[in-house]
Amino acid sequence: MLRLRDLCADDTPHAAQLVGALPLYQRYGYTAQAAERDLQRALVDGRSRLLAASYQGALVGCVWAIDRGAFGRSLYVRLVAVDGTRHGLGIGRAMMAHVEAWPEARRGVVLLCSADNQDAQRFYERLNYRRVGALPEYVGPGLDELIYYKAHQPPSPSPG
Ligand SMILES: CC(C)(COP(=O)(O)OP(=O)(O)OC[C@H]1O[C@@H](n2cnc3c(N)ncnc32)[C@H](O)[C@@H]1OP(=O)(O)O)[C@@H](O)C(=O)NCCC(=O)NCCS
Repeated sequence: MLRLRDLCADDTPHAAQLVGALPLYQRYGYTAQAAERDLQRALVDGRSRLLAASYQGALVGCVWAIDRGAFGRSLYVRLVAVDGTRHGLGIGRAMMAHVEAWPEARRGVVLLCSADNQDAQRFYERLNYRRVGALPEYVGPGLDELIYYKAHQPPSPSPG
């Protein structure tokens, strides 16, 4: 069974390996070493929340989000990664649902997605994220980012 929990210091080498092995992050020159450094800092920065997804004891996904990291208001999802051998199994969907239920997501969730990462665009659009803008060459030459936003969905009232 998939387990979702806070990411802890012991997870950072595994999460970083997972991130560094994904072609998307390799394209950005984002190495496992850089990811491990960032995740370790995020664990103590007081603004980040980190989620780990594990399956049978192995780390299979992670999310790094920053409270009010978007425009000083909305939760900014900085990184979403699922083990490359386990894409399409519902792990990303489960992680995003978990993040959206955090109190920090009450003022909505914002994230960036590479303009040529069509798989991730379909993923977010299936989860009802709206494409609200673009940042041409934001990260570097030829690296355009799309801005996605999802307003907070209040829990539906229980029947009766
Ligand atoms: C994008 C990513 C986080 C999605 O996680 P995932 O666990 O593979 O996705 P899920 O299995 O939860 O898919 C959820 C929905 O998105 C769709 N989806 C997932 N991967 C897809 C793909 N490659 N192509 C098309 N649709 C896809 C699924 O059909 C599913 O919809 P459904 O449940 O209605 O059928 C993951 O594939 C990943 O880590 N990719 C590489 C890194 C990356 O792109 N990160 C995002 C950076 S912005």
